[in-house]
Amino acid sequence: MAKIFVTRKIPEVGILNLEKAGHTVVVSEKDGVLEREELVSVLKENNPDAVLCLLTDKIDGEIFAAAPQAKIFASYSVGFGHMDLDAAEEHGVTLTNTPGVLTDTVAEHTIAMMLSITSRITEGDRFMRDGKYEGWGPMMLLGTDLKGKTLGILGAGRIGSRVAEIAKKGLGMSIMYYDIKESDFLNSELDAEFRKEIEDVLTESDVISVHVPLLDSTRGLINMERLSSMKNSAYLINSSRGPIIDENALVMALKNKVIKGAALDVYEKEPALASGLIELENVVITPHIASATEETRGKMSDMAAKNIIAFLNGETPPNAVEKK
Ligand code: DGY
Repeated sequence: MAKIFVTRKIPEVGILNLEKAGHTVVVSEKDGVLEREELVSVLKENNPDAVLCLLTDKIDGEIFAAAPQAKIFASYSVGFGHMDLDAAEEHGVTLTNTPGVLTDTVAEHTIAMMLSITSRITEGDRFMRDGKYEGWGPMMLLGTDLKGKTLGILGAGRIGSRVAEIAKKGLGMSIMYYDIKESDFLNSELDAEFRKEIEDVLTESDVISVHVPLLDSTRGLINMERLSSMKNSAYLINSSRGPIIDENALVMALKNKVIKGAALDVYEKEPALASGLIELENVVITPHIASATEETRGKMSDMAAKNIIAFLNGETPPNAVEKK
């Protein structure tokens, strides 16, 4: 049967499925991301028939050439910006991802980040731990209400739509959104307002939540000019991909009160943070954990394995990434 190389330890359900299907699984022994040369050399050494990779692996022509037998690279992620679709086509490689199973989890984390920044949860937590609390104060750590405010969704896919639904039904927010096409669900179920121009959503919303995928067209989408078009009282939330926001511009905007606050789970040059970001009080930062629940990570592992099993059985994998 086939040999599958897994680039990093993941929840075992997927590994067990692959083994149950009769395949041999080799999991990277390194505790952490394989450096590029390490990945190339370990692929050459193992010559696998399939690779289960992660969003921390840059998958391109050099990697495909290092594993010439592997005609499927199944990513344990919904995002696929780390994989070169053109190179995959050139090498005849099928790429897959894990859409759907992490929608609710990422949406819940996004809402948690929004509440954390507007209710100043993490700032309050730091305040307590620093021993600064001397009793209730009428003007202490005042936050911002969300009920009746407008949430601007950039990207009305699965996660953006679920965030909008929780915000509308759970928090009583109004929804406005920008996408390349209108969403029936957002229009009819959530009474959301569609805007053709991103600028309209940025200028009119009280909170902006980013859910577009990372593509050439969305890299640097939120730059200083666009940050400046937001309300001074607005908040920016990002649980999609870091490079969609110019992080240095965001630091400037937060420092100079161009916007009121931000909550980020992803970063432009992960794991590095833009200079000055960590010193700011008006930002909540989490370490790319929006999909990190035990349930969801298990489902992602299972799904990545199922994509490989289907492909090796000669079937079209259920979650093949398509070049648009
Ligand atoms: C993904 O799957 O793309 C997520 O970012 C992982 O947390």
